[in-house]
Amino acid sequence: MASDLVRFSIAIPEGLLNEFDEYASHRGLLVNRSEAIRDLIRDALVRDELKNPLTDVVGSITLVYDHHVHDLTRKIDEVQHSYPGIVISSMHVHLDHHNCLEVIAVHGPSLKVQELSNMLIGIKGIVYGKLTTVASQSALSKADAAQGHRHGSGDETAGAGAPEASDARHEGGPGHDIDQR
Ligand code: NI
Repeated sequence: MASDLVRFSIAIPEGLLNEFDEYASHRGLLVNRSEAIRDLIRDALVRDELKNPLTDVVGSITLVYDHHVHDLTRKIDEVQHSYPGIVISSMHVHLDHHNCLEVIAVHGPSLKVQELSNMLIGIKGIVYGKLTTVASQSALSKADAAQGHRHGSGDETAGAGAPEASDARHEGGPGHDIDQR
């Protein structure tokens, strides 16, 4: 259920507002200004929350490497096996004769996710590595609520791909039921 909306006015220099409108339209955000500003506020709150090492986060680690490098594939595998609760899934793509792309979906306390990422990216021979922390789980739930999604009701099974409330690892879209473990 969407929470009640509160109206308030803000004072902002015209030039800044014009720049904001332009920025929002470039990002495809300009459904209306209110929505664009809400997105920014949520983003700021999530960023702040992500600084807490205990915050539960979801994200992905992307690696590019040459599989011909001695022992590299085995090391990447071994590190992931050391974090069974954090690694949700991974995808391996053979880019060309040499290069592999590996995308690892992760989920867990920010500290652990960061640690796993550092271990992987630190392996000698990794050409490119990046951790993308998408959001905290509580933020996903809040965004979900703001969009008016309902849980624990008959609606649950109506949507395509709607996950079961008990399935925290959700096969469906993001932001559903994640806090309901
Ligand atoms: Ni490969």
